Amino acid sequence: MRIVQTIAILATVLLVALGGRYLLMGGGDGGSGMSNGASAAIGGPFTLTDGSGQTVTEADFQGQYMLVYFGYTFCPDVCPTSLSISAQAMSLLPDDKAAKITPVFISVDPARDTPEIVGEYVKHFHPRMVGLTGTEEQVKAAARAYKIFYQKVEEKGGDPEAYVMDHSAVTYLMGPDGSFVTHFSHGIPPQDMADRLADIL
Ligand code: NI
Repeated sequence: MRIVQTIAILATVLLVALGGRYLLMGGGDGGSGMSNGASAAIGGPFTLTDGSGQTVTEADFQGQYMLVYFGYTFCPDVCPTSLSISAQAMSLLPDDKAAKITPVFISVDPARDTPEIVGEYVKHFHPRMVGLTGTEEQVKAAARAYKIFYQKVEEKGGDPEAYVMDHSAVTYLMGPDGSFVTHFSHGIPPQDMADRLADIL
């Protein structure tokens, strides 16, 4: 039941974020038709904290492509899968192209995801992956900028600390100027992601 609800919610969020016209045309076409309209609204300023406790903003990524994914470290499967796919896709790229990309993981669960926890978590996926978290307000603002939906889901009668977070599972490619370039759907084969990245970079 929860999965069905989640898919329905995510589908709605994606429609809002990316524009129904594009989705009806079919996703995964490399980004044609994404150069104007709704896509311009994805991304923007954020202020968060990295694994070493340093404040990080969008300005710190100027001149680099960012592969941005929002999730949480307690996520049982969706987040690890998405982050692994990004890391695999980067390893499939020639080194000079991979070097242009900084993979970024932003927690939507700041209550549990301290900077230290997020910093340790991202090391499991890619040596250059940056893990970010922040205050509830900072995370909310970043998610809003990137049109990411997230919501705490507590199990009735369960351990209140064992909640899960429903969240969008889209990976964004942001350009060196911080603007939206394209998105990758959850579960894309790493080679497909690498091929599309190689065309863009
Ligand atoms: Ni997740």
